[in-house]
Amino acid sequence: MPKVTFYGHSCVMITEGKHKLIIDPFLNDNPQSPVKADDVDVDYILVTHGHGDHIGDTFSIGKRCKATVIANFELANLCVAEGLDIHPMHIGGAHDFDFGRVKLTIAHHGGGYGADASRYTGPPVGMLVTIGGKTIYHPGDTGLFYDMKLIGEMNNIDLAFIPIGDNFTMGIDDAVKAVEFLQPKKVVPFHYKTWEIIDNEPEEFASRVKGVEVIILKPGESLEL
Ligand code: NI
Ligand code: MN
Repeated sequence: MPKVTFYGHSCVMITEGKHKLIIDPFLNDNPQSPVKADDVDVDYILVTHGHGDHIGDTFSIGKRCKATVIANFELANLCVAEGLDIHPMHIGGAHDFDFGRVKLTIAHHGGGYGADASRYTGPPVGMLVTIGGKTIYHPGDTGLFYDMKLIGEMNNIDLAFIPIGDNFTMGIDDAVKAVEFLQPKKVVPFHYKTWEIIDNEPEEFASRVKGVEVIILKPGESLEL
């Protein structure tokens, strides 16, 4: 049974047995996170795109934990330059790791690293992570796209995270439609309230989703699948 812990914004930790993964480890500069980069211990770091609020503390955690970075080819190679172990992948591709399976999906967003986002890090991605027999969908930063219907049809999603903050990603209207397309068993809203410009209310999202269990996790809270 995987345990999923939310650290605020888009940072998600998944543990199952001896396996420890973190997705988008934005911790030290994340005003919502109850933990810092030095507090986490992981084997794998999954990164959806090069923006600072997603690549976050990947370099320092990767070095300290000797963790493998799973990301698209361009972003993974940025991590090689930092001396990290990588497993490059790309959109549409899946791979079986010791902990389970990862498949990269499209995401409609930008992809650049650095203060001005000028270092090319390839297209942003979403990730389907299957671990302990459960499938978790982390869409990264994205707008709504109709292929979410296909992702929902082809995968039995136990838990989906959905950005609701608007401005940089989909807002609540589109997030509600995304849940309709994906048909996950459970959904957790994320990428909101980190800054004033994405100050949307998760309760509003929860009240508008029909037929799918919405779980609002506070930063630091966990759920077991
Ligand atoms: Ni982004
Ligand atoms: Mn973001």
